[in-house]
Amino acid sequence: MKKSALQLARADYQPKLPIALQGAVKVKEGEPTQSVDNQEEIKKLFPNTYGMPLVEFVPAEKQENKKMKVGVILSGGQAPGGHNVITGLFDTIKKLNPENKLYGFILGPGGLVDHNYMELTADIVNEYRNTGGFDMIGSGRTKLEKVDQFEKGYEIIRELDIQAVVIIGGDDSNTNACVLAEYYAAKNYGVQVIGCPKTIDGDLKNEQIETSFGFDTACKTYSELIGNIERDCNSARKYWHFIKVMGRSASHIALECALQTQPNICLVSEEVEAKNMSLDDVVEYIAEAVANRAADGNYFGTVIIPEGVIEFIPAIKKLIAQLNDVLAMPEAKGLDRSELIDFAKSHLTEDNLKVFNSLPTGVARQLALDRDPHGNVQVSLIETEKLLSTLVKKKLKQINKGKQKTDPDYITFKAMHHFFGYEGRCAAPSNFDADYCYALGFNAAQLINCGATGYMSSVRDLIKPSSEWICGGIPITMMMNIERRNGADKPVIRKALVDMKDRPFLEYSNNRAIWAKETSYVYPGPIQYFGPPEPIDQPTKTLILEHTPEE
Ligand code: FBP
Repeated sequence: MKKSALQLARADYQPKLPIALQGAVKVKEGEPTQSVDNQEEIKKLFPNTYGMPLVEFVPAEKQENKKMKVGVILSGGQAPGGHNVITGLFDTIKKLNPENKLYGFILGPGGLVDHNYMELTADIVNEYRNTGGFDMIGSGRTKLEKVDQFEKGYEIIRELDIQAVVIIGGDDSNTNACVLAEYYAAKNYGVQVIGCPKTIDGDLKNEQIETSFGFDTACKTYSELIGNIERDCNSARKYWHFIKVMGRSASHIALECALQTQPNICLVSEEVEAKNMSLDDVVEYIAEAVANRAADGNYFGTVIIPEGVIEFIPAIKKLIAQLNDVLAMPEAKGLDRSELIDFAKSHLTEDNLKVFNSLPTGVARQLALDRDPHGNVQVSLIETEKLLSTLVKKKLKQINKGKQKTDPDYITFKAMHHFFGYEGRCAAPSNFDADYCYALGFNAAQLINCGATGYMSSVRDLIKPSSEWICGGIPITMMMNIERRNGADKPVIRKALVDMKDRPFLEYSNNRAIWAKETSYVYPGPIQYFGPPEPIDQPTKTLILEHTPEE
């Protein structure tokens, strides 16, 4: 593999380990735990893994080191730092016993079911230290949920004499990790399952998991690009840039990018829902800001759009919920795409059909048909940025009606479109993500060594220097509740959406009127890997605001 100069320099970076993990460790057990909701149902579904205590690793004189063979799976969308979870895991199991072995299952959970794996030796692992991407073993979105998949997985686990599987994934993948842990525990197979919190979306977080890995690097990458666009925009002064950013449901990425770059507008899906806004209300809101800036002679601006916003417009959300139920009906099985549309339309309520018909055909089709294996609408495929700018243009046309282009109050509006998603998911991890991921992997190995199963690797106190981070494990059942998925009630990890009472949102909403009217852009520039501490070790503004006590 030919390497760039930065890759070569970065390969030598030694992630900083928390003091708690630097030597021998022992377990400090916390109180027994409860799920976030639906306690009775979750307890019944997970009799072997429910209610376990929180676990913290504290320094010890010495520890017992298990001999172990471990399997690792990268699951779902790529997120910067995944390779460092694997290197942290590899280094630790080798440190515990040099004969320990690590196997990588290829292309996600499907690799476990299809027995597609490779042994990860030092030669392989060393090539990927501090690199972005998941290409060491690849990733996939196969949903591990059926008994025959668990049994197929167990065949290869037994053949390779694996004692534990680490699943590095988002909320859906960690839900599957929990189901797998419960199944293997119920069967007494002696296989531990440990999860690691991954997703650029930043929505796998709670009191114990302060952030998912990858969010830091992805947001910094998008913010660099948004800052560059803002500077171009402020130089040419002729375009409104509509910038959609990833984040399937929650608006954490959009909000963090807004805090870093101070655009004129940032939509927050959760607010759109809370205020019961219609698509027209959203368009009106943007058009008004365009008109206000035009009144000052500023015919340019930037709008950040979370990719999931369309799903949060209450009328569209209701439509999607009914579409999900209709598409899960047995009669829908085997229909081709156009038959499915007709079938879905014929089963929609009058209100939902009206909303469906009001959407541009392409968008309506995507809402009705394109789902990932977990049943999520594939919002990254929906061109919301173009939809919104087209509707804003229409609205401005009405305002401009009867005016000449030369009239002083004529609103000139030219839009450019961007989608920042895949650009950020495989960026070289920031120092924060490199350190955090390495510690998560290290910690996962310690969880295996102490016999834990059904736990998620957790590293806390992340706004402090990494030497002070607190390491341990959280029972995954603790994060679960019952939600409706694909037409049925299922136990799932509760997603953390943007909370409008939390400081990141308040920080934005307290400033947005000024940012909308004036040009207050901030240009964060590229991620810095070397140099003075301020630019290289800054966590996200979201993490700082969420974890710094208010003065
Ligand atoms: P995960 O939840 O698996 O981490 O993936 C998140 C994400 O990056 C979303 O932001 C985006 O909507 C989606 O993946 C895109 O999925 P795909 O990679 O399958 O196109």
